Amino acid sequence: MEALIQQAAKEIACARNVIALTGAGISVESGIPPFRGKGGLWEKIDPMEVAHIDAFMEDPARVWRLLIQDMGHLLASAQPNDAHQGLVALEKQGRLTSIITQNVDGLHQAAGSSRVVEFHGSFATVSCLKCHTKQPIKNCLTGELPPLCDCGGVLRPDCVFFGEMIPMNAFHAAQAAVATCDVMLVVGTSATVQPAAQMPVMAKQNGAVIIEVNLDSTPLSHSISDYMIKGPAGNSMRQLATAANEMRSDGS
Ligand code: APR
Repeated sequence: MEALIQQAAKEIACARNVIALTGAGISVESGIPPFRGKGGLWEKIDPMEVAHIDAFMEDPARVWRLLIQDMGHLLASAQPNDAHQGLVALEKQGRLTSIITQNVDGLHQAAGSSRVVEFHGSFATVSCLKCHTKQPIKNCLTGELPPLCDCGGVLRPDCVFFGEMIPMNAFHAAQAAVATCDVMLVVGTSATVQPAAQMPVMAKQNGAVIIEVNLDSTPLSHSISDYMIKGPAGNSMRQLATAANEMRSDGS
């Protein structure tokens, strides 16, 4: 593994522009369960029942009760882990230029990352379906469900539900980052949900080197990824950032 970390770190140290695509796996060591695989949220509840916009519009109180309230409490107390910090370190080294995250937990920003594209929106705020006023979700995690705006409209979390479009600004920012990177780190994603899962493929087509960090193999591992670093993201990202920094400082 050490040799693989060294080789991947060399790619990062020699790169002009490194970006990262992250998924739920990067926040597992912060106590937030993934969606798929062992202990995944979608093993317990059907995503089409609680995470599709039609399900929310049909019965917002039910979706608030079954998904949003618990998730909201969990995210409110979660702290960034070594994997988030590893990406901050690469940004401080002047290597990492942006993070495209599928996560709605805000942990990259909490760790200190400054350029984060929230591709699936965020759980930090809610918006009124009627007057579109935004407010922090923490105002809505207790009390009547569904929580209502002062105007009487139903409040929805500012995440992207299944069946919804990716916000245009996030989509364009992600496309621009993918088009100009020469190394893409793919950390803790099952790479099964589109259009996010297409981005490593597009980066590869543009000639970028793909470095995957995951506990398990994914559809990318034997096709797109040039390096597959198998293990917990915290330890792997810490090692990668340290090795890349050492290479930078001794000019190797
Ligand atoms: N370190 C590294 N990888 C991990 C760890 C860990 N500690 N724990 C889990 N993983 C990996 C799993 O092996 C899996 O490949 O993280 C991945 C998590 O995959 P998913 O749960 O499918 O999460 P993600 O890829 O982000 O899902 C994409 O689907 O449900 C929707 O909108 C939701 O953004 C989400 C999207």
